[in-house]
Amino acid sequence: MVASTGTTAREGWSSRSAFVLAAIGSAVGLGNLVRFPAEAGANGGGAFVLFYIFCVVLIGLPVLLSEVLIGRHGQAAAPLSFRRIAEESGGSGAWSIVASLGVFSAFLVLSFYCVLGGWVLYYIGLFGADVFLSGPASGAFAGSSFEEVDALFGAMVSDGLSTSLLDIVFLAITFLFVARGVSGGIEKVAVYLMPAFFFLLLAITIYGMFGGAMARTVDYLFTFEPEKLTGEVMLAAVGQAFFSLSLGVAGMVTYGAYVGRDVNLASTSGVIAGADTAVALIAGLCIFPIVFAAGLEPSGGLGLMFQTLPHAFSDLPFGTLIGLAFFVMVAFAALTSSVSLMEAPTSWAMDRLGLARPVAAMLVTGAAAVLGVLSALSTGALAGFHPLGFIPLFEGLGILDLLDSFTGKLTMPIGALLTSVFVGWVVSRRLLDEESGLGGGVHRFWLFLVRWFCPLMLALILVSGIFPETTARLFATLGAG
Ligand code: PHE
Repeated sequence: MVASTGTTAREGWSSRSAFVLAAIGSAVGLGNLVRFPAEAGANGGGAFVLFYIFCVVLIGLPVLLSEVLIGRHGQAAAPLSFRRIAEESGGSGAWSIVASLGVFSAFLVLSFYCVLGGWVLYYIGLFGADVFLSGPASGAFAGSSFEEVDALFGAMVSDGLSTSLLDIVFLAITFLFVARGVSGGIEKVAVYLMPAFFFLLLAITIYGMFGGAMARTVDYLFTFEPEKLTGEVMLAAVGQAFFSLSLGVAGMVTYGAYVGRDVNLASTSGVIAGADTAVALIAGLCIFPIVFAAGLEPSGGLGLMFQTLPHAFSDLPFGTLIGLAFFVMVAFAALTSSVSLMEAPTSWAMDRLGLARPVAAMLVTGAAAVLGVLSALSTGALAGFHPLGFIPLFEGLGILDLLDSFTGKLTMPIGALLTSVFVGWVVSRRLLDEESGLGGGVHRFWLFLVRWFCPLMLALILVSGIFPETTARLFATLGAG
């Protein structure tokens, strides 16, 4: 392996495919299974989906390549990788702040992501108990009314003890893999769980095809009506693209640091982005037929997964079993993402504080558990506590929603924006020519995107996230003009 950094000998993936699976594991998560279908539904279906694909290709992919490239060349935890490359290119070492911000965001996302992971475990418990009590062939929660199924969600989020404990369980499982190292733990979780995930996704999608609502789903997701492509829809699509690709939080930089020199970064990034997008689209084709077949309308946000789908499962044959399989699948996807979220701060603590991996991972787990329990309580006992409520952007947000908004609207877009500025304007041309794995015109096109197009688009999401009303008014004026 390449030279060691600081105190720890560098670890590495055991093969290119292990890296590809781990990176796909990071990218594929609640973002694909919950956020994508909900956003597509809320933002005009086909118009959103088409523009989303455009964003993945022209913004997500160039930034993904940039992040992996920084990690591979820097061969260290993200901040040190940024510093090394900046200094090698004659720039300021202060660029490492971008990565430190990313590591911090990864930690914040980890803290609330595992709370949602805990909710998924709770539903695995509900459906698991139901399979046991009513048998696999019945609809889920037989004998319960829609209101009773609906109320399960409210009962869960207000039950702070259960959600806190399950958050800690989810964090502890994540810890077990991260503590075992790159080839011993992180890639193992991806190598075993990702194939199982794909199998479950395809099996449930095929099950949904028999319900007879596929035509309506395809119509819902893919009918492109140009008039629905408003400014807001476009911004939602950009935000979704970089959340889904795990960008802006130093996670892909961290994973890139374990990649061997023989790997072509451009084609590998293409495979990762392609797989992530395919999973998002298939998730839509998996979820909506089940919802439509039960005669329901899709709801937005978390309600789609935790209320609408359980309703749908209660109406369908084998609903208990399919519901259980569905939530197990979601848990697998969330776990491979939370592992990458924990790895970024863990590798930072190893390089920066000189800690052994298990100690570093334990430190991150402990801190995330504190913030996680506060988040878990924020939907119940701490519901009225709005820590940054005096800032208009965060008005009325409890800790869980605050962490989500703070990272999604601020730190992640800032991280991705500065990363593309760094690669586009600071990193030396020679280094980029050597590392990108692209040739000729495509390489120049990538440079153009990271210099101009990505920063511009990311700046737009940032501004619109901070000043939603002004931006909406501006778009309305432009639209009218
Ligand atoms: N991409 C993950 C998802 O879609 C979330 C994530 C974001 C994971 C950032 C790691 C880093 O669920």
